[in-house]
Amino acid sequence: MNMMLSSNTGDRSLDALVQDVLAGANQTARTASTLPPRVYSSQAFYDLEVERIFKRDWLCVGHVSQVANVGDYYCVDLLGEPLVVVRGKDRIRVLSRVCLHRWAPIATGQGNTNLFSCPFHRWGYGLDGRLLGAPFMDDAENFDHKSCRLPEMRTEIVEALGLIFVTFSDEIGSITERLATLCLRLKNWKIGELVGVEPSEMDAEFNWKIQLETGMECYHHFAAHPKTFEVDHPSRLSWCEDSKGTWSTCHSPARDDAPDEVYTIGLPTFPDLEPAERRVFDLYHIFPLTRFSAFADRVNFRVLYPMGPNRTVSKAMWLVRPEVAARKDLIEERFATRRDFMNQAAEEDYAIDLMQQVGSASVLARPGRLSPMEATVWHLAEYVRQRIAAN
Ligand SMILES: [Fe+2]
Repeated sequence: MNMMLSSNTGDRSLDALVQDVLAGANQTARTASTLPPRVYSSQAFYDLEVERIFKRDWLCVGHVSQVANVGDYYCVDLLGEPLVVVRGKDRIRVLSRVCLHRWAPIATGQGNTNLFSCPFHRWGYGLDGRLLGAPFMDDAENFDHKSCRLPEMRTEIVEALGLIFVTFSDEIGSITERLATLCLRLKNWKIGELVGVEPSEMDAEFNWKIQLETGMECYHHFAAHPKTFEVDHPSRLSWCEDSKGTWSTCHSPARDDAPDEVYTIGLPTFPDLEPAERRVFDLYHIFPLTRFSAFADRVNFRVLYPMGPNRTVSKAMWLVRPEVAARKDLIEERFATRRDFMNQAAEEDYAIDLMQQVGSASVLARPGRLSPMEATVWHLAEYVRQRIAAN
């Protein structure tokens, strides 16, 4: 009896939270408030996000340059699913990396191979997931290894951006079509041709939305980054476009008198950019979990992997022209000039995000009014609202 009561209380609590989330709809960038603070720490709301957002939308799992050659692979853990992204002779696949035999992982880390071999009993799989051999299985009746294949995720490559997307949904439409306007916007960067360098990973004890919201607005530059971003990219010049539904963008131009150098780290700039595109610091959010920032000589690319309401792993890299990526000394030298700056700015965000996570869990916390300068925070809230409302 008590268990039932407590379970009912839990459901009612989630229902009430969902109603609070939906109550924030029908606002504008000038009237909007944040989502209810509990959506950043509630396990029940996170579980609802998994079902209604992450498992029904397209999720990016990397860039094609991470599997440039046949046999290149890397492992990804997506919402608890052990996966391997691999380039076969014909195409890129995202396969389950759970052995069909007794579920050990057939791959770990990253590398290049022509055969995935399970360490448990050496069942071997080709790059297309087909089971090529299973030792000592000759006496197993009606076992035909040729008919066995690792399950494959529904996958789509957005060629213009070089992004590898997967989805758990059989129903959702093409992600390439939904990102057509973003592909057009970024066409001169030719992101599909770029190559990832300087990879990094972060494992943080805050909610995925907290990390993305901070990464998508520049209102906080003057307060949280007085000696880093605010110096050249002051808050007062930042502005957000209207949401595009599947993506959102915030611009952080430099001071009018800033030299061109603030827009690059001294790598060769992308050759096809228009003059105005050479003076940008633009932030892009592909809902729900992918983030870009575009500069004249490099693009930052980050994918988030939510691990729970209070924990988010994210993987980032810088995308540069292939001929630039091949010049390892130049990459090392130019990124070194900005490394202390970027690390300091990242630490400034990290410290704030950790404190925000604590604050959002306060029973006294309430939704906060947003500045139009952080409309991107509202755009994400709108996306979450629409997805949560859909049964
Ligand atoms: Fe920041």
